[in-house]
Amino acid sequence: MTTTATAHTNIALIKYWGKADAIHNLPTTSSLSLTLDDFYTTTTVSRQPHQETDSFTLNGEIVNGQRVFDFVTLLREELGDFPTLNITSTNHVPTSAGLASSASAFAALTGAITREIGLDLDTATLSRLARRGSGSASRSFFGGFAIWHAGNDHQTSFAEHFPAPVADIVMLVVKVSEQAKSMSSTRGMQLAQTSPHYQNWVTTSAHQLVDMQSALQHNDIAKAGEIAEKNALAMHELNHTATTPFTYFTDETRALITFVQQLRQTGLLAFVTIDAGPNVKIITTRQHLTALHEKITQHFPTLATQIAYPGGGIQYD
Ligand code: PMV
Repeated sequence: MTTTATAHTNIALIKYWGKADAIHNLPTTSSLSLTLDDFYTTTTVSRQPHQETDSFTLNGEIVNGQRVFDFVTLLREELGDFPTLNITSTNHVPTSAGLASSASAFAALTGAITREIGLDLDTATLSRLARRGSGSASRSFFGGFAIWHAGNDHQTSFAEHFPAPVADIVMLVVKVSEQAKSMSSTRGMQLAQTSPHYQNWVTTSAHQLVDMQSALQHNDIAKAGEIAEKNALAMHELNHTATTPFTYFTDETRALITFVQQLRQTGLLAFVTIDAGPNVKIITTRQHLTALHEKITQHFPTLATQIAYPGGGIQYD
């Protein structure tokens, strides 16, 4: 009567930044991500038929996880009714890394619940379900790279493993700020979609996705990094040019972008990608990691860093 699932978080190299259908969480673009090894969520679910309401414990504390409860309600609608659940989650996302955990959280939750109620679903079906909790969670079932096909309805919008070598790519996560004001990704996307550049971003993203797939298949991390940086910076440009402009960047985020771009002039392989927050993830290779890490810690001695290698797919104990 208990199931435990572990899912790792992922960082998009080609971003999801806009919804074509907010109810079903259908994106305006397909996206492609790398799953990370050190950052994951472990969730245990047990059926409690005599208990009145579902409960949710996060990192050892009972919390009112409205977003989790709403998602469980949605699963009951999609899969048919099931007994009351106790849900216990632990986020193994080092606090120093400042990464969002909704991707790993909703993937682990979907895996644990569906197994606990006796379903053995394929990963495409799991991906579709998790997408409804958090778009990026659709990509967290797969080891290495994952591609989320935008699709045009619930059935056609899901992620799958993207086969490409993972032996060389590494990310250096640089934590910029805990205090930074954050705007939810849902709200951020709504505003970004008001930018006059939005349609152009959608069109460009489709070309970048094709080029990214080719670069990764050829293990050309420099090319992949170049595309990822362009895609991410253009995503943030949408925020800066929305009808109500906003930014996730701080001065340190901007300083890091500039510094990484300068490091490239010295021959280091380093490209930035940034999500809905001020933290910077630097795409590099194992070969360049030590030199890059040294430069970053010398130049930004107060910022915490964390090395993230490619991670595996969902696991059940
Ligand atoms: O999964 P959400 O709804 O939190 O959106 C994630 C959005 C980004 O992290 C900024 C990009 C991405 O593709 O993961």
